[in-house]
Amino acid sequence: MTPFMADRLKHFGTSIFTEMTALAAQHKAINLAQGFPDFAGPAFIKDAACAAIHADLNQYAPSQGVRPLREAVARSWARHHSHELDVELEITITSGATEALLAAVLAVVNPGDEVIIFEPYYDAYPPDVLMAGGVPRYVRLPEPDWALPVEALRAAITPQTRAILLNTPHNPIGKVWSQAELLLVANLAIEHNLVVISDEVYERLIFDAAVHLPIATLPGMWERTITISSTGKTFSLTGWKIGYAVAAAPLSEALQRVHQFMTFASATPLQMAMVTALDAGEAYERQLIAFYAARRAELVEALSRAGFGVAAPAGTYFVMADGRALGWNDDVAFCRYLTTTLGVAAIPPSAFYHDGYQSGMIRFCFAKKPETIAAAASKLALLVPTDTHDVG
Ligand SMILES: Cc1ncc(COP(=O)(O)O)c(C=O)c1O
Repeated sequence: MTPFMADRLKHFGTSIFTEMTALAAQHKAINLAQGFPDFAGPAFIKDAACAAIHADLNQYAPSQGVRPLREAVARSWARHHSHELDVELEITITSGATEALLAAVLAVVNPGDEVIIFEPYYDAYPPDVLMAGGVPRYVRLPEPDWALPVEALRAAITPQTRAILLNTPHNPIGKVWSQAELLLVANLAIEHNLVVISDEVYERLIFDAAVHLPIATLPGMWERTITISSTGKTFSLTGWKIGYAVAAAPLSEALQRVHQFMTFASATPLQMAMVTALDAGEAYERQLIAFYAARRAELVEALSRAGFGVAAPAGTYFVMADGRALGWNDDVAFCRYLTTTLGVAAIPPSAFYHDGYQSGMIRFCFAKKPETIAAAASKLALLVPTDTHDVG
């Protein structure tokens, strides 16, 4: 470690995704670890990007994003949430949700402010808070049903609390927060005058009867919520990193002050292509959900046959599978074993708890081709309980 490294970074380490993806590559394992599709993104969106490049839309975009994309985001909000956004004042296009998250935290958190983070969390949340000089306060969602622990949330709020970081649909647990839960969070946020930063990147990946509700649309929440999304998940183009943040004008202005000095603007032709993507609307979304529902069913069945305790997630493209029936309590050891010996990589969610808590579960991603899931299924079928293994 260089002696020049700033103190605020010293405890960050390498992300678990980088580590497991490298291990998967080294052992030629099927990578159900990191959350990205192993299939091509839609041709009509790639064609739109090529057309934008050839039309010479290749110079800096306005910092807040190209107007056609902001208009498309507004049309999407009107269609899904019957909410009219102000295209000039309430939308910021960012370089992925990753940038929007850090910009949102830097926009509202002062040094010493506390930010509530639910565990398990998306791994960027604690570093985002720490980089802003804030203090993360963790509230653990209890497995197996992951219901909101209202009293624990209430107890975590102090006079120093500034914000709550929410994620629905939730990575890694696949939960879509109910209206009743969101109302409880909203009421506490209003009572204590808190900002809610709501990460909704999986908003379109919901199954069966689940309904995604942005907390920003609940009474009294619009002026205190920053809603973050990403086109990468919905349109299977995670490498393009086109995300966006939606918030009332004063919060958007604060976020844009950060964004202008962090990236200034995101790639112009890719923003233009995402106009076509968002406008593909319901027909595209129906197809996407049908595709993922089939992959979800295949993976859940494979895991269940292999002896995992598993329930189909209501949202996202992740499944949490309980390995304890197979004799594994340590999720890192289990994921290493699966990757290096069985040839299927997964993510150990203890990386998503500040204290390394072991829930007994490991996370698999089903944003994969049918043949990838089938190949993983045949390997998982070879799993036998650890008491017949020398696990080392
Ligand atoms: C919950 C959550 N938030 C944010 C992101 C980052 O999104 P992006 O790739 O658009 O930066 C991810 C990506 O996996 C995610 O799962």
